[in-house]
Amino acid sequence: MNILKIISTAVLLILGSGHAYADVDLPTKFSNQGSIGNTRHNLTQRQASGGGPNGVNMDPYRNDYVEVCVYCHTPHGAATTVSLPLWNRTMKATSYTTYSQLGTTSLTQPVSQPGINSLSCLSCHDGQTAVDSIINMPGSGRYLASQEASQNDAFLNAWTNTRGPDAGVHGKLSLGECLSCHNPAAGFVGAGAPDFTIADIGTDLRNDHPVGIVFPPSSGPGTDFNTPAGVKGTTRYFDSNGNGNMDSGDVRIYDTAGAVKVECASCHDPHGVPSAGPGTTFKPTFLRVTNTGSALCLTCHIK
Ligand code: HEC
Ligand code: HEC
Ligand code: HEC
Ligand code: HEC
Ligand code: HEC
Repeated sequence: MNILKIISTAVLLILGSGHAYADVDLPTKFSNQGSIGNTRHNLTQRQASGGGPNGVNMDPYRNDYVEVCVYCHTPHGAATTVSLPLWNRTMKATSYTTYSQLGTTSLTQPVSQPGINSLSCLSCHDGQTAVDSIINMPGSGRYLASQEASQNDAFLNAWTNTRGPDAGVHGKLSLGECLSCHNPAAGFVGAGAPDFTIADIGTDLRNDHPVGIVFPPSSGPGTDFNTPAGVKGTTRYFDSNGNGNMDSGDVRIYDTAGAVKVECASCHDPHGVPSAGPGTTFKPTFLRVTNTGSALCLTCHIK
């Protein structure tokens, strides 16, 4: 399924170009304020509060479920084999090349395959599974248990887009799929589509901050790491405001198979974290702590 084959049917290419900036968000038409519905993680590509990007550009390439949460969560019929909250996504078994395979000698802790928390993100960001590949589509009788482990295009094709053309393909975050347009090399077909190449993480994690890595058991003054003193269930967190709650702005270390490990959502909250209290613009790149002055890094590292 190559999107390029049907690109001639693409509609409404809007002129413009994306540039990447350090320490701020990539240019976006979403307001990045108030709700995940106003961020890039709204996979309907139609801003919940009105305005925003023109989602009809994307309709041929992914189902528009009209709802925001459903691309990741479902109230019923959620995945039963993964411990993620009411998880609605296909989790394709995938083997990753880990950071440890870089041959680094400075790591003191073991690195494993990404833990379940990281796999939630990688279910889109590794480019192996369509962004619209879910177990339970909105409405009754649109559930397929086997979707939990493998993407079934016939099932996904049964969906009818109500706000634009039906999806002819179910695009992944990879070259030749969503990146047919979201890529500076895309030429005119990609006109107006922001560059997403950096978010196409793939299955080789050697050039990414290690995930599935054990947090050093020895921490605090005199060591290389601060101590995540907050404890919630099996997760530990840095209680940035000292209120005893694990807030979305608190960096956290997840319990993965009995060991506390750094995973994707240690640093990121996929729902967005307000920068200065409710209703304010979200911190860039879904980060829990804005990285100005490397504040995110220095939450864990003593350097
Ligand atoms: C045919 C080209 C094309 C393809 C293929 C395509 N897009 Fe887009 N996409 C666009 C264009 C053009 C825009 C800009 C719309 C606008 O500015 O109103 C856009 C905008 C977006 C935005 C909003 C960007 C922002 O923050 O303002 C997201 C998110 C997005 N696309 C995701 C996807 C995903 C996910 C896929 C694959 C399932 C995909 N796109 C496939 C052309 C495409
Ligand atoms: C792009 C995927 C994605 C979307 C869309 C999404 N979530 Fe989540 N959500 C996650 C992930 C991943 C976790 C697990 C995070 C963790 O383990 O810290 C989560 C956790 C949660 C949790 C439990 C932990 C917490 O942070 O409170 C709630 C509640 C939740 N989501 C509600 C929602 C609602 C409501 C929506 C829609 C308005 C939504 N989510 C949309 C990915 C998503
Ligand atoms: C349902 C698919 C899906 C899931 C699950 C998902 N993402 Fe995304 N994410 C996207 C899409 C689509 C975009 C927009 C295109 C892009 O920037 O690559 C995006 C963008 C991002 C961005 C860039 C935002 C920006 O403004 O530059 C970050 C950071 C991100 N995701 C992190 C995460 C993390 C961390 C998780 C897991 C906790 C996660 N994502 C889960 C689909 C997903
Ligand atoms: C140790 C903290 C940390 C962890 C763990 C982490 N990230 Fe990030 N991530 C960042 C920071 C900081 C940025 C901001 C942009 C930058 O500096 O590249 C970022 C940026 C991104 C982006 C936007 C593209 C970019 O490079 O700007 C995506 C997508 C993303 N992360 C996804 C993930 C996924 C998926 C995982 C798990 C496999 C993950 N991140 C794990 C800190 C982290
Ligand atoms: C959630 C805690 C946490 C955050 C936040 C964090 N790190 Fe790390 N980082 C770790 C852990 C744990 C290790 C593994 C340490 C070890 O094995 O000795 C690590 C390893 C590293 C390494 C060493 C890799 C090697 O090959 O030895 C570097 C460099 C690094 N982090 C940089 C950063 C930067 C830069 C940031 C901010 C963008 C950051 N870290 C944010 C926890 C974190």
